[in-house]
Amino acid sequence: MHIIFATQNPNKVLEIQNQIGESHAIESLLDLNFLEELEETQETLEGNALQKARFVYQKFGKACFADDTGLEIESLNGEPGVYSARYGGPEKSFEKNIDLVLSKLKGQGNRKAQFRTAIAYIDKIGKEHHFEGVCKGDILKNKIGEGGFGYDPIFRPEGYQETFAQLSIAVKNEISHRGLAVSSLIKFLKA
Ligand code: IMP
Repeated sequence: MHIIFATQNPNKVLEIQNQIGESHAIESLLDLNFLEELEETQETLEGNALQKARFVYQKFGKACFADDTGLEIESLNGEPGVYSARYGGPEKSFEKNIDLVLSKLKGQGNRKAQFRTAIAYIDKIGKEHHFEGVCKGDILKNKIGEGGFGYDPIFRPEGYQETFAQLSIAVKNEISHRGLAVSSLIKFLKA
């Protein structure tokens, strides 16, 4: 069975195809030669994931899913949340995003945070389904580690001494927000 993943990020496609195995073939927007940026103008992760999935379903008429992820910091009332990609400015710089988080948390004792991923899946007859994955942890005072992307160097998942940027991709996928959300989707698809 073919499913479209509403993304232009080949790393995400590889990650998910690895997780899902051979039962479903994942086609990305790149495979379909669709290179325009998808709109994400909603105020929640769920809203953005659904907006992207609906757009792709309407355009291609096939089963598809989309994801949206945010870093939610307790003492910042859930910020940066849905604005995670562009928190430090419109240029979407990982460096600037991290700098802003660290400066807002200066002197703050409560450094609890979580990554949350929302997935919206639309099946071939147009029914909408929702999945979620959460990874709890805390925000360090400095960046540590070279791997990963985004906020990885300042996020230490619960139960680990290392940041996401220090953990292997395999370990990160096992415990991460996106890995868990994708696992729920896969369980549903295979049921
Ligand atoms: P997206 O919805 O997957 O594009 O994620 C939105 C933003 O959240 C990204 O631009 C990153 O800043 C951040 N983000 C998402 N997933 C991760 C992750 O696994 N580690 C660190 N940052 C992430």
